[in-house]
Amino acid sequence: MCGIVGYVGPDTGARPLDVVMEGLARLEYRGYDSAGVALVAGDEVYTQKRAGKLANLREALEGDTVPSAATAIGHTRWATHGGPTDENAHPHRGGADGKLAVVHNGIVENFHQLKQELLAQGVTFTSETDTEVAAQLLAAAFAESGDLTEAMRSVVNRLEGAFTLLAVHADAPDTVVAARRNSPLVVGLGEGENFLGSDVAAFIGYTKQAVELDQDQIVTITPTSHTVMNFDGTPAEGKPYEVTWDAAAAEKSGYDTFMEKEINDQPHAVGDTLLGRTDADGKLVLDELRIDEANLKDIDRITIVACGTAAYAGMVAKYAIEHWTRIPVEVSLAHEFRYCDPIVSDRTLVVSISQSGETADTAMAVRHARSLGALTVSVCNTHGATIPRESDAVLYTHAGPEIAVASTKAFLAQITACYVLGLYLAQLRGGTFADDARAVMAELHEVPDKIASLLTEMDRVKEIARFMADTRSVLFLGRNVGYPIAMEGALKLKELAYIHAEGFAAGELKHGPIALIEPGQPVFIVVPGPDTPNELHKKVVSNIQEIRARGARTLVIAQEGDEEVLPFADEVIRVPHTSPLLQPLLTVVPLQIFALHLSTAKGLDVDQPRNLAKSVTVE
Ligand code: F6R
Repeated sequence: MCGIVGYVGPDTGARPLDVVMEGLARLEYRGYDSAGVALVAGDEVYTQKRAGKLANLREALEGDTVPSAATAIGHTRWATHGGPTDENAHPHRGGADGKLAVVHNGIVENFHQLKQELLAQGVTFTSETDTEVAAQLLAAAFAESGDLTEAMRSVVNRLEGAFTLLAVHADAPDTVVAARRNSPLVVGLGEGENFLGSDVAAFIGYTKQAVELDQDQIVTITPTSHTVMNFDGTPAEGKPYEVTWDAAAAEKSGYDTFMEKEINDQPHAVGDTLLGRTDADGKLVLDELRIDEANLKDIDRITIVACGTAAYAGMVAKYAIEHWTRIPVEVSLAHEFRYCDPIVSDRTLVVSISQSGETADTAMAVRHARSLGALTVSVCNTHGATIPRESDAVLYTHAGPEIAVASTKAFLAQITACYVLGLYLAQLRGGTFADDARAVMAELHEVPDKIASLLTEMDRVKEIARFMADTRSVLFLGRNVGYPIAMEGALKLKELAYIHAEGFAAGELKHGPIALIEPGQPVFIVVPGPDTPNELHKKVVSNIQEIRARGARTLVIAQEGDEEVLPFADEVIRVPHTSPLLQPLLTVVPLQIFALHLSTAKGLDVDQPRNLAKSVTVE
């Protein structure tokens, strides 16, 4: 949820503040209710924090005399305890002398009880946050031991919940100490300087050398060292790795918004996710999977757990995986999964889908599935994140960093990775569709070019979006794999343009939703290709007629050459031909563009929609 940056370097100067502000700018997508920094300057800690976006903090810093420092921490917040005010913004100070400062991501669940304890000791608080409780506890522990790492160790063992904490103290000037429990934190290794971040984007402008940490670990960085220990005090080591993308990947590269850039990255997201999945004979090989083939052959049920857009990717994948493997696939919203008494055995494969790999609901679902004996595979876009680390196996999507809050390229990469997994399972189990795997892979490899060509044909969609800036409600219809795409189109519009939008299975219309149709009601219809089995194309064309007869304004997404839709379409948006199961990789694109441009036409912030954060690390 929140973004966290830490830096310690050899020299006192402006660099620590510059590094932290740049890191916060790259992490602002994680939360943008307020932002703040703390600098260790002489025997004091300087802090500056402001409600609102990072620009407000930047302005406050520009209007102030900011001291030189060698050590700095920073924070960009998505509010949990206490509203987005200057007082509740991080960092929070601890101790009567205010020499300690803390930034925090996550929730301290037992903060109320701890706060009562501190209040009884006469400690006063200046905010409503759980973070300030941790800051006061840390200051008291530091007063006893004089050692910031030891203070962190004693405090984290009293905290319940999920958290990443970063602390600095004026009496430990060249040190930042951090701890993580079920919340993200990575270390960046520089030359004579070291970094901390909620993710590698925080320091990618300075180093590609990163260190993964485990849960329940503390790391202490100085300019020349990083030392890891477990919460129980035993020494530990992080896992070093090299980041495979560079700072440019986390920048807008000439586009107005990250979302626009990421939509245009989609051919690469799909292409890169397909790379290296087959051997010289065209046979699928999933080296990352690390689950015994015999166990995979034996599975009799697949449950996909995910949230939001990732869950829609799972719903698309369900149609394909069931078709290719004949294994029943259920898609469960991760936050419901744990509480629905799920039917899981050691023959169940639980596939989690998560761009960030940090979504708390999904991480908890994976843990629950493992406790019930399931095999777990994570489809994830973030190297070394919590969910892949805690799963039996991982299939990374290679979409590159996704910065815009609304997921686009990760969605296409997730569908692609799930398809690869489905084809691999089909190959492993033999049977009719094992032979088709090769042909489907070949067709998947053609998809990036098709997306690229589709992206050049979007002018009319952009125009329609601009004309519809005052629209109050939009409906989306789809069938089969088009049904989750209808829901994804509606989700994009809700989150980006704050317009009421709903996606329905087209066949469901007559069972109630058709009552919503009144003259002028805009409805997008995702039409299956004419070669879709079971005459689904014809059935959806009838659905278009039914709503048009009642006055709907029909915006039809149809395959090139599909003439049957023409008499009933107010607008036709063409997508290139693919076989039916691959169509979602194309049909979603105009819906993403529509939401992006309608939001822009309304003057809204496309990359950082209100009330949202990129990575939902609280339940
Ligand atoms: C919507 C969106 C969200 C995420 C969901 C899961 O555009 O981005 O619905 O898909 O919060 O996030 P991850 O994939 O990080 O688990």
